[in-house]
Amino acid sequence: MTDDLSRRDFLHASGLGLTSVGALLSQAGRPYRPEPGKRIRMAVVGGGFGTQFQWHEHPDCDVVAVTDLRSDRRARLQKVYGCKTAYDSLEDMAVKARDVDAVAVFSGALDHVKHTKLCMERGWHVVSAVPACFTLAEAEALKELKERTGLRYMLAETSWYRQAAILARALHRKGAFGRVFYTEAEYYHDRGDLKKLASDKKSRFFDPDGSHSWRWGFPPMHYPTHSLGFVPGVTGERVTRVSCLGWGTGDHPYLTDNAYGNRFWNEASIMQTDNGGMVRCNVFWLCAAHGERAQWFGDRASLYMTKGGLHDTQLRFRTKGDTPTMFDLPEQSGGEIAVPRYWESDMLPEAMRHQSGHGDSHTFISAEFINALLEDREPEIDVYEALAVTVPGIVAHQSANRDGEQLAVPQFRSPK
Ligand SMILES: NC(=O)c1ccc[n+]([C@@H]2O[C@H](COP(=O)([O-])OP(=O)(O)OC[C@H]3O[C@@H](n4cnc5c(N)ncnc54)[C@H](O)[C@@H]3O)[C@@H](O)[C@H]2O)c1
Repeated sequence: MTDDLSRRDFLHASGLGLTSVGALLSQAGRPYRPEPGKRIRMAVVGGGFGTQFQWHEHPDCDVVAVTDLRSDRRARLQKVYGCKTAYDSLEDMAVKARDVDAVAVFSGALDHVKHTKLCMERGWHVVSAVPACFTLAEAEALKELKERTGLRYMLAETSWYRQAAILARALHRKGAFGRVFYTEAEYYHDRGDLKKLASDKKSRFFDPDGSHSWRWGFPPMHYPTHSLGFVPGVTGERVTRVSCLGWGTGDHPYLTDNAYGNRFWNEASIMQTDNGGMVRCNVFWLCAAHGERAQWFGDRASLYMTKGGLHDTQLRFRTKGDTPTMFDLPEQSGGEIAVPRYWESDMLPEAMRHQSGHGDSHTFISAEFINALLEDREPEIDVYEALAVTVPGIVAHQSANRDGEQLAVPQFRSPK
């Protein structure tokens, strides 16, 4: 919210009072403050999703190298980031590249820990695509790697920086919900085309040589971060136990012939958190719905994301009893508020104040990682948060394979 006009528009749209809006905006995240004289030299691995971030728009960052195994994707990376230097592989880059500070690892989901290890042992900070890891052994290894090297690690989790999630986090920090005792978080990735795509050799389920890509048959709960980003990412809770069920039809090679032995299109779980809270967390690949969304239930107020689409514009809320000031709407017990357009606020450097992918989260992820390096601090989604949004899903899939048996979730906490 940079000028009077946009602030007035926002106030009008939301029906909020000035004091309340000012507090929410100022508590929603740190403002960008330039660090004179410092610059970050960034490399990018992976020319698919890895082309969708804004490292190059940050005023204190240069993309100095890119790499992909595929020449078409290397060229795409070079074009997007205006970068002259491209390597044939990360392995090649690790041998030859000089003057790199940090790497964005956007290779396929099974390679994240392997590639993060290669980078960190080379002395490079890492921001990794989700999920953080695929197995519990990898989770251990990632924590050990980060603590041994002392380098910065961030997970590029998009639901964490959806504009609605930023507001929910700010409200929670204000104590607006009272005690959050139940959260529903869901990620549905089906555009009604999954079965069609699964027989289309040009789709994301196939590599260029016609073999199955890592996405083929991927167990839903091994991709839990777009749901769980709304839990540690908003309330700070840790999932301690999980029971999960899976649904599969057994009539498609996606489920009968995949590298993971996965039998499920969709998985639904109930989780317990370390403050006694309950979470219903779903990941579905085959269903008539699409998006990432959550709703948080407190004993003073509750908040509902109305849509899980690209740009969420409204939130619904309910308040009760002794919570008249939560949304500065004392006479109402429920209603709708506009989601603040944080992407045009001073939380981002000026050049990055535009809409971006996954609910306007991409510029926030890009800026937060670079800012953390400039300010010599841990990024907001550090290795412990990364594991808190990834590991419960790994255990959930184990539970689904055991008909919903409730299982303990290992904790990966900071030693500090
Ligand atoms: N909302 C989100 O957060 C979101 C959305 C989409 C994808 N993703 C994640 O982003 C990652 C990338 O997704 P994608 O769809 O582009 O996957 P992809 O499999 O299409 O692309 C991965 C790329 O990495 C390259 N690569 C693999 N090993 C390499 C190496 N050793 N050196 C150089 N390049 C190498 C491959 O050639 C490939 O082009 C995935 O892990 C996915 O889970 C996250």
